[in-house]
Amino acid sequence: MPITTHTIRDSKKQNRKIIALTAYDYSTAKILDKSGVDLILVGDSLAQVALGYDSTLPLTMDEMLHHAKAVIRGVKNALVVVDLPFLSYQVSKKDAIYNAGRCLQIGAHAVKLEGASEYILKIIKKMVSVGIPVLGHIGFTPQSVNALGGNKVQAKTANEAHKLVLQAKDLQDAGCFAVVVELVPSESATLITESLDIPVIGIGAGSGCDGQILVTDDLLGKFIDFKPSFVKRYLESGKDSEDAIKRFINDVKESKYPSDSESFFMTESEAEKIKTN
Ligand code: KIV
Repeated sequence: MPITTHTIRDSKKQNRKIIALTAYDYSTAKILDKSGVDLILVGDSLAQVALGYDSTLPLTMDEMLHHAKAVIRGVKNALVVVDLPFLSYQVSKKDAIYNAGRCLQIGAHAVKLEGASEYILKIIKKMVSVGIPVLGHIGFTPQSVNALGGNKVQAKTANEAHKLVLQAKDLQDAGCFAVVVELVPSESATLITESLDIPVIGIGAGSGCDGQILVTDDLLGKFIDFKPSFVKRYLESGKDSEDAIKRFINDVKESKYPSDSESFFMTESEAEKIKTN
């Protein structure tokens, strides 16, 4: 049965952990979907991980849609959420609705956007009112990396944790079906999780959340520029891929690839004609 925003919401009541991962292309999306991932996020981490930018800020709406379409083609069951890029929703409510609507038009099921300011809450309410499901995102919000002074753990004090609970409640009241909480101490994330009726999906936020999300390329060891300390690598695919490619280079140089079984041949009579002509 395809996963809907209602399935995600109900997971909390049923005490069933939500499994969420990122994808930026068809093949990865297909593997995640087949593996039973509930929610596939076409995250704006696409900017760094797949496009080589040094932050999420340069990513455009057109780049995001291009990758989101590929992901959607690979998914049958999971809920596909598209991250709205920087400047695609902050400039005006009209832009925000239009860009979120474009994501749904190509087949996404929901959008994610960052923050919980009064302005962002108004945008979320408008989206929800026109039928666009929204996944919230608080704690460390990468599109505000300059304002936050770098990739820093947020809500490290009890006071800040209580403020974050208020933000999370505002997102819930605005109509978000779930909230991502990034890079906060375990105690803060657990407090938020216990304070909300909607699910909290953590990243670098400890084990007390209703679900977990990671960047797939981190989990697979494919993104090798850096490894956040909260990431657990389940594979060293960057290293393993490099080893495989070196073996290929060697095989070609030593004429071991392609072998006869990896080549096509004429019938014997045709091959004879080549020799005699
Ligand atoms: O863009 C992203 O990858 C995210 C994370 C929460 C996984 O927003």
